[in-house]
This record gives sequence, structure tokens and C-alpha cells, in this order.
Amino acid sequence: MARSSAHSASVLHDIHQRQRADGPAAMLGIGTANPTNCVLQDQFADWFFRVTKSEHLAELKAKTKKICDKSGITKRYFYHTEEIISGHPELINGALPSLTTRLGIIEDAAPKLAAEAATRAIADWGRPAADITHLVVATNSGASEPGADLRPAGLLGLRPTVRRTLLYLHGCSAGLVALRVAKDIAENNRGARVLVACAQAELLLFCPPDESRLDVVVAMTLFSDGAGAVIVGANPASSPMAMERPIFHMVSASQTTLPGTDQAVVMNLRENGLLDSHLSVEVPTLVQGSINKCLADTLAPLGLLNASDGGWNGLFWALHPGGGAILDSYEAALGLEPGKLAASRHVLSEYGNMMGATIIFVLDEIRQRRRRCHDDGKDCQWGVLSGLGPGLTIETIVLHVTDSQDEN
Ligand code: COA
Repeated sequence: MARSSAHSASVLHDIHQRQRADGPAAMLGIGTANPTNCVLQDQFADWFFRVTKSEHLAELKAKTKKICDKSGITKRYFYHTEEIISGHPELINGALPSLTTRLGIIEDAAPKLAAEAATRAIADWGRPAADITHLVVATNSGASEPGADLRPAGLLGLRPTVRRTLLYLHGCSAGLVALRVAKDIAENNRGARVLVACAQAELLLFCPPDESRLDVVVAMTLFSDGAGAVIVGANPASSPMAMERPIFHMVSASQTTLPGTDQAVVMNLRENGLLDSHLSVEVPTLVQGSINKCLADTLAPLGLLNASDGGWNGLFWALHPGGGAILDSYEAALGLEPGKLAASRHVLSEYGNMMGATIIFVLDEIRQRRRRCHDDGKDCQWGVLSGLGPGLTIETIVLHVTDSQDEN
């Protein structure tokens, strides 16, 4: 009996080992996409107050202009247009139910945007879509199942056996959460090739300016639409028929929810969309007060935080640009040298805050900057991918970059 039980344990162990990958997960392809409607940030206040018929709120409009000027954003892309808004008066009247209208529009838009980004990620990866074994979709733009996962799977021609995971309402950390889940899948399923797709269409949040809700006005000046996709897998193939090149190794993943912050960033889906959500003015201060310890707890045990290697400045940084003040908080708290957050600031400027999709744009920007030999971080092999989500939750993935990609 004892021998048979020992034998079973050994068989179990062998099966488990055979099922798991040998190496760490890596990002093998990256793609991004945006809708075509582009609004310049210096024209946003005029556009916003006009389409919401709020020109009479002159003081609030002046404040909105000021926030736009200091936002660090040059332009943003939106799926919704003036025509869509004028065709649906309930979108600018918070007293009317508008959830069905909002979902009807974005549940078509978000999967298409996700599929566009995924097509580019698959091309970048270099293998056929049929080789994808798992799909992880994260979005704040939808509330249906089957929904934002099955639509892109169909548009991309993924196999019916693809194993789907759909993550709704993780806010700005949606991309990071999806990547964390993909890392675990890739490392625990030998041969898995996981497509992560993260799409954001902010129509659920869109609402007219309200003098009593400055946080909502701030959200209107920051958020925008876009999609990012990443192929994640372990043990990259190296045969001439299927050559895979890791862009970033995913070394470790962690999540910390700051105690007592459960009202700091809140997303509530209601009859009028996400208008009952909240973004606390305290978020930049909360980040500044907590980020050093939070990241040290993640990196120190890995032996990656040595003063002799430059400390925080010895790493490259891929941070979610939640807003200019958030990036300033990271810089101040960690004593980062100027230029360390150049990729995040560039993405914020060119696209705004596309919630969960933004971090994938930052990864792509870092990859491109390394190829173009920008000096910001080219010599750093280890890096930090981090962003904020509802809670306040800090989501972090430690990265390692390989020379093979830099040389291409
Ligand atoms: N809720 C309510 N009011 C807010 C606010 C919020 N979340 N954030 C900023 N404000 C107000 C400020 O109190 C200030 O009001 P005042 O003029 O009456 O004093 C005004 O907006 C301007 O903000 P301030 O931070 O002083 O200056 P700024 O114009 O340089 O920057 C932002 C504005 C929004 C770009 C900047 O505050 C920012 O990046 N905030 C972080 C946004 C965030 O939390 N993102 C997280 C998403 S993951």
C-alpha cells in the first residue's frame, strides 16, 4: 500500500512536471490600435462643452482648459464622435438611463479594436493565429458573456478549443492583470501561447461636465480609447520554421492593495454607465507615500535592488501613465533620473490614458526606443512594469529584457 502510494505520488509529480514549462514566460509579440477619431487636447474643452451643450458653464470650461494644458497630453483618440453623441441625448443627460445605449455601441467597438491590436501582435510574433492556445481579454468596455472574448476570437480565426478568460472592470490595471494571468498560464501549461488583448472604449464613462463632480471632469480630460495585445509564452521556439524572439521576460508578478483605500478609485456600473465612479484627488499622494515600500517588497527578495547597481535608477521603467501627477509621484518617491519615464510620458502625450491598454503601448514604446538606441534605459537589463487599479491597487511585473530584440 505504502509503495503504491509512493508510486502514485511519483507519477503525479512527473505528470505535473511534464505539464509545466521549463522557463519563465516571455512576451513574444506586441500590437496596438486606436480608433480614427482624434481630438487635440488644446481643443478638447471646446469640443467637450459644445457636444454636451454645456457652454453656459464658463468657469468650469476655463478650469477644464487649464487642466488640459497641464495634463501632459497632446492628443487622444475616441470611438465616440460628435455624431454618435448628438444621436443619443441620454448620453448627456445623467438623469436618463443610458446603459443599454452605451453597451450597444461599445460592445461592437471594443472587440473590433482588440482584434485589430491582436492582428498586429500576431504578425509581430510571426506564427499563425491557430497556434494560440489561450485568450485572456481584459476590458472596462462591456458587460456580456459571451462578449469581448468570443468576438475577437471569431474575428481572428482562433481555434474553437482556445481557452478563454474574460476580465471586466479592472480599470487602469486591466492590462497588467491580464498579463499576470497570462504569465501564470504560460508557465503552468507547457507549449501554451496566450493572446492577451486589452481594449478600452470610454463611452461608458462619458458624461457632461458637472460643477459638483470635478473628478469626473478630470477623468474626461485624461481617458481615451485604444487597444493593446501581447503574445505570451514560455520556452520560445528556436527552429527555423518557428522562430520566436522574447521581447521581455516576465520574471515575477505581484499585487498590493493599499489598506484603507477602497474608496480611492471606484468603478460602479449603473443605469447611466460608469458615472457613479470615483477618482480621488488623493491618488498621486497615495502613490508617492507607498510606492517605494511596495516596489522594494517586490524587488528586494529577487536581489534586484542593489545600490551598487544603481538602485531604482539601475532599472528600466514601464509605468502606466495614469496622469502627469502620477508619473511625478513615482519620480519623486523613487528619486528617478530625468528621462527614466520618457516612454510613459510619450505615450501619455500621444494617446492619453487608455486605461488598461496603455501599459501595452508603453511596452511597445520601450521596445522601439531600445531598438533606436535611445539612452533611457538601454543599458538596463531589468525593469519594472507597474500600474494602478481600483482600490487603490498596485499591480507590478518585474521584467528582464534580452539583447536579441535590441539588435533587431
Ligand atoms: N478629483 C477632483 N479634483 C481633482 C482631481 C480629482 N481626482 N484631480 C485634480 N483635481 C483638481 C485639483 O484639486 C485642482 O482643483 P483647483 O483648481 O480647484 O485647485 C484642479 O483639478 C487642477 O489639478 P492639479 O493637480 O492642481 O493640476 P494639474 O492641472 O497640473 O493636473 C491632472 C491635473 C488631472 C492632470 C493631475 O492632477 C493628475 O495627473 N492627476 C492624477 C489623475 C489620476 O489619479 N489618475 C489615475 C488613473 S489610474
